[in-house]
Amino acid sequence: MSRYLGGHRDHHPLGPRAVPQVRRRTNQAAARPPRPRPHPPRTPPVPSPAGSSVGRRGAGGLPTPALLDIGCGPGNSTAVLRRRWPHARITGIDNSPEMLTTARTEGEPAARYLLADARTYDPAPHHPDLIVSNATLQWLNAGPGHDGEPQGHLALLPAWTAALRPGGTLAVQVPGNFDAPSHTLLAGLRRSPRWHRLLGDDATRPGIHTPAQYLDTLTGAHCTADVWETTYSTLLEGPDPVLEWVKGTALRPVLSRLTDPADQAAFLAEYGALLREAYPAGPHGTVFPFRRVFAVAVRR
Ligand SMILES: C[S@@+](CC[C@H](N)C(=O)[O-])C[C@H]1O[C@@H](n2cnc3c(N)ncnc32)[C@H](O)[C@@H]1O
Repeated sequence: MSRYLGGHRDHHPLGPRAVPQVRRRTNQAAARPPRPRPHPPRTPPVPSPAGSSVGRRGAGGLPTPALLDIGCGPGNSTAVLRRRWPHARITGIDNSPEMLTTARTEGEPAARYLLADARTYDPAPHHPDLIVSNATLQWLNAGPGHDGEPQGHLALLPAWTAALRPGGTLAVQVPGNFDAPSHTLLAGLRRSPRWHRLLGDDATRPGIHTPAQYLDTLTGAHCTADVWETTYSTLLEGPDPVLEWVKGTALRPVLSRLTDPADQAAFLAEYGALLREAYPAGPHGTVFPFRRVFAVAVRR
């Protein structure tokens, strides 16, 4: 079985259609080669406890397991869970009412959804067999009780694993590309005098930790854990494909602050030129490497 559960390709927040990719894997755990697919998923790959050496039992052996999807967004990851566990009691949690509306109507209508802030949400009353958080932890670094703490979202994980039934599984995936040119060039441009005047400081800068820090935290939280990273080298099509991709993620807060269309156009032109230089187009498209970090932990 593949370690990845895949996902919907058509409703993905990350943007443009991608074409086949190559994975480079640097592991801390024995890896099974992923099942070849004609196209990569547009939903970030959801970590599957079924593929982990510690998580093979996952929630799969139970007739109606209780599953939590923290940061469920439009329900793409929730739908992946439903396909894997058709009879599960699934609850999706997100702090965006718009995302939850889409999840209810298009993502996975049979799940239950809660509007909640994952930084303060207590999963214990659900007695979950499996908690999944896909492409969300990077946003959970600051908030009530956690502001300025060096641990960032690592501080949340012990409470999440403590909420699991014994033998239950936590599976998370975070993007690990914050040091990539797509992000550093954007940050540099924001700091330049013209744009800093309009945009101010970057108050919602997401961030993640090293694989070793996730492993250490989860092991210290009475779990057996697998942590690994994969860099997806994705081939993008079109004249400004990296710019189009980033429009669905890191550029969102920037564009929402630039209310004048002329400013938006000028910012996109400047940033687009920097991206074309950093990610030159080749004969088959533009290679866009994207690193992701995965962790699967089973409560002892
Ligand atoms: C990139 S989306 C991932 C959606 C989904 N898990 C997937 O794999 O497609 C990140 C989600 O985290 C949610 N989010 C961000 N901060 C949050 C918070 N503090 N509490 C709950 N959800 C949050 C966002 O609203 C968004 O829906």
